[in-house]
Amino acid sequence: MNKDWNPELYLRFNKERTQPAIDLLNRIEADAPTKILDVGCGPGNSTQALAQRWPAATILGIDNSVAMIEKAKADYPHARWEVMDALNIKYVGEFDIVFSNAVIHWIPDHGSLLKNLFHALNDKGVLAIQMPLYHEMPVYALVEERYRQMFPESSFESDHVFNFHSAGYYYEILAQMPCNFSIWETSYMHVMESHAQIVEMIKSTGLKPYLDEIRDNAQKVDFENSVLHHLPTVYKIQSNGRILFPFKRLFLLVGKS
Ligand SMILES: C[S@@+](CC[C@H](N)C(=O)[O-])C[C@H]1O[C@@H](n2cnc3c(N)ncnc32)[C@H](O)[C@@H]1O
Repeated sequence: MNKDWNPELYLRFNKERTQPAIDLLNRIEADAPTKILDVGCGPGNSTQALAQRWPAATILGIDNSVAMIEKAKADYPHARWEVMDALNIKYVGEFDIVFSNAVIHWIPDHGSLLKNLFHALNDKGVLAIQMPLYHEMPVYALVEERYRQMFPESSFESDHVFNFHSAGYYYEILAQMPCNFSIWETSYMHVMESHAQIVEMIKSTGLKPYLDEIRDNAQKVDFENSVLHHLPTVYKIQSNGRILFPFKRLFLLVGKS
């Protein structure tokens, strides 16, 4: 059962989550964009980063989570927000920038999605996308393994929720489109105080579909504890007691040509 997002829990790691958005928008060469679309704006953190760089632009944040849009409206009441599914975007030639940070892995069929977002750009527009490469991280395999161990009868398939692909997959799509583009990957070395902090960080994102699947609250806690118990096998404690949690991310920057 899919539950809505928890904006407060998500924003506990606001700095770590927004840094890739800042890094991505800093790569965009646009002096004075007037219209920007933030797809999957969440609680408005990425939208706010866009507004700080281009204060004169009109920015529309869209998200299909009511809880996320309510939080964005509450924190940034003067900005423009709409509950909208990215799959229903029908803009043509409207935006200078279409931006999406940490979203599209929740959406299927990236071939159609990228073409649709590209169509929303005007003639000089730029499409800028970042997504986590969570499936390449040890924590993903660990969570999968713990879930299968604890719930062997479950028919839940994480690849029905997550849509992860390689750089090569995006290259094939973009090479067929009338555009110029760059693709790169970055690993962010998050310094965590404890393994429990890693669980806290993924609880509102990568762990969420598994937790949504488990109905019984006591079983949810057992599952979280099982993940926590095994995390030291894949993320070692440094000599000062902290833990490095490398977070891989893939970036796409696409311009009209
Ligand atoms: C990890 S958050 C990213 C929030 C923000 N962009 C950031 O930079 O932190 C992912 C967001 O994507 C939204 N999302 C997922 N699927 C979506 C869809 N099909 N259409 C619109 N938003 C979607 C979720 O509701 C959630 O708010």
